[in-house]
Amino acid sequence: MLITNLLVVSLFNVLATAKLFAKPSSLMFSCLSASQKFQYDFVPPSGVIPYWYVACNYEPALGSIVLCLEADADRICPFSNSLEMLALGCKAQGDRTLTQTYLMESGKNASKYIKNLASDPDFNLTQLTTPIMFNMSEVANKKNSYYNFFDNLDDSTKFGDFTIIYWGVLLVLIGLFNHISAHNYLKSISLNSKLNQWKALVVLPTLSSNHLSPARFRGIAFFEALLPLRQETFVLIAYILSCVYYTTSNYKIIANSPLFGNPYRQYLRFISDRTGIFAFTQLPLLILFGGRNNILMTISGLPFNTFIIFHKWISRVMMLCAVVHAHQFVLYLEVTGTFRRSLGELYFQFGELALFCCLLIMVQSVFYFRKRCYELFLVLHIFLAFIFLIGCYFHVSKIGYSEWVLATLGLWILDRIWRFVNIYQFGIQTAQLRVFHPRSSDADTEDPTIKVSIPKPATWRSYPGCFVYLYFLDPHLKFWESHPFTIYDSTDQFGDPTPMINIYIKPKCGTTKAIYDQIMSRDITSVKVLVEGPYGHKAHTEDYDQLLLFVGGNGIPGPFSHSARSVSNLPYGDLESSKKVELVWSIKTLSALNWFYDELIQLKDTHVSVTVYVTRGDLSLADEDDSSTSSNDIIEPEILTETSHLLKDDTDKKSKKREVFSSTITIAEKVHNLSEFVTFIKGRPDVEQKLDQVIKECSQVSKISTIGLVTCGPSSMCDNVRNSVARRLRRNDTGKVRIDLLEELQVW
Ligand SMILES: Cc1cc2nc3c(=O)[nH]c(=O)nc-3n(C[C@H](O)[C@H](O)[C@H](O)COP(=O)(O)OP(=O)(O)OC[C@H]3O[C@@H](n4cnc5c(N)ncnc54)[C@H](O)[C@@H]3O)c2cc1C
Ligand SMILES: NC(=O)c1ccc[n+]([C@@H]2O[C@H](COP(=O)([O-])OP(=O)(O)OC[C@H]3O[C@@H](n4cnc5c(N)ncnc54)[C@H](OP(=O)(O)O)[C@@H]3O)[C@@H](O)[C@H]2O)c1
Repeated sequence: MLITNLLVVSLFNVLATAKLFAKPSSLMFSCLSASQKFQYDFVPPSGVIPYWYVACNYEPALGSIVLCLEADADRICPFSNSLEMLALGCKAQGDRTLTQTYLMESGKNASKYIKNLASDPDFNLTQLTTPIMFNMSEVANKKNSYYNFFDNLDDSTKFGDFTIIYWGVLLVLIGLFNHISAHNYLKSISLNSKLNQWKALVVLPTLSSNHLSPARFRGIAFFEALLPLRQETFVLIAYILSCVYYTTSNYKIIANSPLFGNPYRQYLRFISDRTGIFAFTQLPLLILFGGRNNILMTISGLPFNTFIIFHKWISRVMMLCAVVHAHQFVLYLEVTGTFRRSLGELYFQFGELALFCCLLIMVQSVFYFRKRCYELFLVLHIFLAFIFLIGCYFHVSKIGYSEWVLATLGLWILDRIWRFVNIYQFGIQTAQLRVFHPRSSDADTEDPTIKVSIPKPATWRSYPGCFVYLYFLDPHLKFWESHPFTIYDSTDQFGDPTPMINIYIKPKCGTTKAIYDQIMSRDITSVKVLVEGPYGHKAHTEDYDQLLLFVGGNGIPGPFSHSARSVSNLPYGDLESSKKVELVWSIKTLSALNWFYDELIQLKDTHVSVTVYVTRGDLSLADEDDSSTSSNDIIEPEILTETSHLLKDDTDKKSKKREVFSSTITIAEKVHNLSEFVTFIKGRPDVEQKLDQVIKECSQVSKISTIGLVTCGPSSMCDNVRNSVARRLRRNDTGKVRIDLLEELQVW
């Protein structure tokens, strides 16, 4: 938490250091520029900027500028502020460090010898050795022009700050809503129905019925994308509209600027400055939202995938601003005839590099590529983002605004340190690997799962629904990759004497397939792993009167942990709880019981009612037994050891239930044992019907006023549940009963 606090502090530090300097700068620059009309008796050394060097190092010139600043000082632009700007300018460009006291002395001294050209028109203006009183009406004219320029820079920073404040305030408000509404003391009927309505209209709805499953535009695979929810869309529309306003409004253009010339040139320069600085101000949030350790996730109660959606849209806004910045600036250089010279300058080349990386990131992040080669996408993404930030830093290192880049790099480094600390706390552990139900020739019913059991340190704490990133320390298993997996921590719920976390992996096409292949081909049964976490939202599912858990396949560990916690919260053996917990688990074939039987059986004699839907395999058990035998060929010796170890431990009352565990029993026996409290049904669960049934039952029981609905599994299933709940809440079908959807599946 310390580190996350630091993240926020560093963010606010950026806000604090963002300089708003239009007034003092415009005065300082107009006095400085007035001083350039005169030729002083001073030859600057080679290799310096003569403009600044003479002004800062030749006393008569410096004294004249100080007196000019004093003459035009007022309440809005105090003398001290202008002196500070002059000192800053001299330090950065004039090779001289000056204090305010020195500058004031310099002014006092100059006032003794100052020449007023109005009263002495014949004064020799070459090889000046005395301070000069500038023509203040000329100064005022230039000041206006400078002011417009600097005010635009100020606006750019200010508007960027506003977007940060927007995100901060909005996420705190969403957090207040999420945290307060999830609590028990808000169970009033009228409030329930208001919350339901708000959720039905804003929070829950999808845009086109898809959210976790990608939507395709006109059925074209390349135009596939993950769509935000309605609430996220509102947040993004407000953000984008504000960005449009911030980058297009409040330009102060005059007919003929002594600095930039005609309005066209002024627009080119001002739009380029505005969009460039605005793009920089978006960097810290961009990185914060894309990181794993983001305090705003805890504050808002929003999941990581929502922040990834925000991350994507902020990056799009930033990229667009960068493109406009580059385009306008190049046009500006062309009209001022300085384009060719600029091509050779470092700031320009680093700008080009940053823009190039930024555009490449946009292309390589397209969902089509990301979905197919996630790891390649990730490595390239991180590499390009790093080069992009380096490019940004050197693009502006001489002109300011690099603090935005430094803050961004700081956030990134802090996230990495925090990740390292997380990994260190868990330590290197040896995980046991087992494959259940290996791939078969029948692709339709094949349902392989790798169970990974990892001993956990005694001090390491998890919570239901949390997930970890797993690193496999094996050269064949791409040890540099880390993949997110939900865990089931048996210690917390049932007082398991062996502190273990279990992960149930569905092999896909990348590392998970490599693990599967390694187990099958090399017969490996253990591997060293690193565990980073726990991550994810802590849902207070224990607070709900009724808990309904809709699960598909390997989505089971999180929802199961919630059910298990609701059991362990009761005095052991107390079945009289008014709370109802209903677990609906859809699996392809009964072979899934091979890897989850030992967990499921623990719900026996509890108030959790379990229904298992078997969608593809036959409910006649003979076929399934064959497949279970084939997988157990590999794992039997291990499991026997583990089981006998568990059976020895009969001191703990809770662990007595483990006597019925056995991974050596057939599926038929497993089904038989489970069917005392589990209902087995052939076919897919009917989400709509189940919801109606639960809502009806709940509305008839006066004690029930809140339903927690947990989902995890195939994305289409989770989207179905979301749409069904949103529809019911909109129609006000739920009456007094409040429904909170707690979606555990995350896709990004
Ligand atoms: C919070 C969370 C919890 C998860 N829990 C489980 C679980 O308990 N059991 C389980 O079987 N699966 C779980 N998954 C999915 C699991 O992370 C992916 O299936 C796995 O990373 C795929 O690895 P691969 O290299 O084989 O993937 P590939 O075949 O290369 O990619 C398949 C898909 O997985 C996703 N993916 C791949 N790598 C990552 C990554 N590093 N981060 C995020 N997404 C990635 C991409 O969408 C990709 O399209 C979870 C995912 C998330 C986000
Ligand atoms: N927190 C997380 O993000 C998280 C956690 C754990 C797991 N996961 C991921 O979640 C996924 C779980 O899927 P899986 O591959 O294990 O599932 P699966 O085997 O493909 O399907 C599981 C069951 O769900 C059913 N199903 C699919 N779509 C449905 C729908 N729309 N309505 C009702 N039932 C439906 C299937 O029925 P049919 O046979 O008829 O298709 C099947 O019985 C995995 O990809 C895993 O990686 C994510």
